[in-house]
Amino acid sequence: MQPAPFPLSRPRRLRRTRVLRELARETHLSRRDLVAPLFVKEGIDEPVPISSMPGHHQHTLESLRKEAAELAALGVPALLLFGVPAHKDAEGSQAWAPEGIVQQALRALTADLGDEVALVGDLCLCEYTDHGHCGLLQDGGAVANDATLQRYARIAVAQAEAGAAVIAPSGMMDGQVGAIRAALDDAGFADTAILAYAAKYASGLYGPFREAAEGAPRFGDRTGYQMDPANADEALREVALDVAEGADMVMVKPALAYLDVLWRVKQAFGLPTAAYHVSGEYAMVKAAAERGWVDGDRVMLEVLTGIRRAGADLVVTYFAREAAPLL
Ligand code: PBG
Ligand code: ZN
Repeated sequence: MQPAPFPLSRPRRLRRTRVLRELARETHLSRRDLVAPLFVKEGIDEPVPISSMPGHHQHTLESLRKEAAELAALGVPALLLFGVPAHKDAEGSQAWAPEGIVQQALRALTADLGDEVALVGDLCLCEYTDHGHCGLLQDGGAVANDATLQRYARIAVAQAEAGAAVIAPSGMMDGQVGAIRAALDDAGFADTAILAYAAKYASGLYGPFREAAEGAPRFGDRTGYQMDPANADEALREVALDVAEGADMVMVKPALAYLDVLWRVKQAFGLPTAAYHVSGEYAMVKAAAERGWVDGDRVMLEVLTGIRRAGADLVVTYFAREAAPLL
């Protein structure tokens, strides 16, 4: 871009009043950019507060329906659903069971809200396996890629049958998008979209989520399948693979520590691009605000705007509920 020296010689002209600042604003944050993650737990009678994520709960089906309706009424266009089953096993079979908790939730929300909101099913196994890894284990404890893909295919079909408009695979198995696309097409769900967690890093910022989803690995960590935080070129290769396999939208996760990656992904592919402002990022703002160390609302909007400015079309955020009325 060529600089325009004369008018820009006094940039403060456009900062003088609120309306002038609005006229000059480059990035717009709207409630329609937000995706709200929600947790639904099987076998509880009351919603359970998540202590490390103030304002969030593990929902019952009933409290989930109420929360979803309120978010829809606030104009939040999409909900990302995570399930916490009552029973876990080595395979994570509740993830694809027709009566699994997320399938129940998807059916209930489809009945309540129809196409008013896009229901997005997070597709992974870590909430459902007794060992807490995102896939099946092979001898020695490593996650078996291709055996896991078969289970992911089943989950995708189960979620689509239950009403998910979008399937969001988050397990970082190689080939997951292709396997899910093929399974959906074979089962008659050619119109079900895929939001690929394409560049998902092995991050310390997922801590509070693991309380919410009860999906912490019982041994080891996820560095064998999630990305090394030091790598950005590799993220572009990951996205390229997911696009080639049929991803309709791609995601970078977490958000703030990876804004360079987000920028490059949006520039390189031009696809609808989401950023996941994750649980630890939310918790940091909340904790500092609780102590009076930062102005929580102001930092919330600044952070979400920054993520948009870096190229995100959509921001998955636990702030959706609080931010929407301010936008
Ligand atoms: C699991 C999953 C995680 C998140 C979304 N899906 C945690 C992990 O990979 O350990 C993190 C979301 C958050 O921290 O808000 N596949
Ligand atoms: Zn997982």
